[in-house]
Amino acid sequence: PRPAILIARAVFPEIVEQLREHFEVEHNPDDVIYSKAELTQRLQGKAGAFTTGGDRVDGEVLAANPQLRIVANMAVGYNNFDIAAFNAAGVWATNTPDVLTESTADFGFALMMAAARRMAESEHFLRRGEWKKWAYDMFAGGDVHGSTLGILGMGRIGQAIAKRGHHGFGMKVVYHNRSRLPAETEAAVGATWVDKATLLAQADHLVLVLPYTPENHHCIAAAEIAQMKPTATLTNIARGGIVDDAALAEALRAGRIAAAGLDVFEGEPALNPALLTVPNVVLTPHIASATVATRRAMAQLAADNLIAVLGRGAAPLTPINAGPFTPRA
Ligand code: GLV
Ligand code: GLV
Repeated sequence: PRPAILIARAVFPEIVEQLREHFEVEHNPDDVIYSKAELTQRLQGKAGAFTTGGDRVDGEVLAANPQLRIVANMAVGYNNFDIAAFNAAGVWATNTPDVLTESTADFGFALMMAAARRMAESEHFLRRGEWKKWAYDMFAGGDVHGSTLGILGMGRIGQAIAKRGHHGFGMKVVYHNRSRLPAETEAAVGATWVDKATLLAQADHLVLVLPYTPENHHCIAAAEIAQMKPTATLTNIARGGIVDDAALAEALRAGRIAAAGLDVFEGEPALNPALLTVPNVVLTPHIASATVATRRAMAQLAADNLIAVLGRGAAPLTPINAGPFTPRA
């Protein structure tokens, strides 16, 4: 019999059809959000799963499904997976790197610019019918061109944002990351490594693109925001929980920094209600990778990982398992 898989969320119908050519497919066209218990139950008898960033897969889910061999996440981030449990259980875990880098960098740059140039705040003003006359200081923001771009986290997306700032906008680009890029990569993207305190102090526009881990929970909180320029902007396209959203809302309200752009939130899709009451923040619903072409490419890569492992008996294309790993038979 053909292997059975679960597609845990709604996805492009043509991807579902393609997977049906290889597998017995249970899918979720109504896009119901499964509880952990329901996900565990629906995975019974399944050799593979197609998940998104909202689907938590931990050691209990894996232990209850000893036939499961691969979980393919349609996201580059994978903090919804307990990777140590995947490694221990011998279950392949995969993500979708590379295919979303440029689209996500475009969005991060746009969100930073929208915050700096007060696009959302001024648009809401206009929609409320409050625009009665032009004024010399109306919605005057901070310049992007020629300013200093700070990037926290310097993976593929961080490097793509650095290039945009350096080559396109004549920005000075500084970054902080645990590991420093090779000198030739730094030169190619036009970025210089600095320590975190220097990054916070120098950035006119700080963009966060680091993966979420327990160690960097709230790595931008009140103390870090206090080290930023009062004219600076903060943009988070990484993950909720990296920023202390309550502290950020308070800093924005008090004018301790100029503005923020947020695509991800602690506890999303719920968000800290204080963020909705401050005007100087641009809020978007976790859509940084959302172009039609990129979302298709992400879904295709997740499908290709399932087909590689369960259809061809090969290794997946983009595994995230680390360390000693023996796949389940
Ligand atoms: C989206 O947040 C992703 O990790 O792809
Ligand atoms: C993370 O994987 C990135 O692409 O920046």
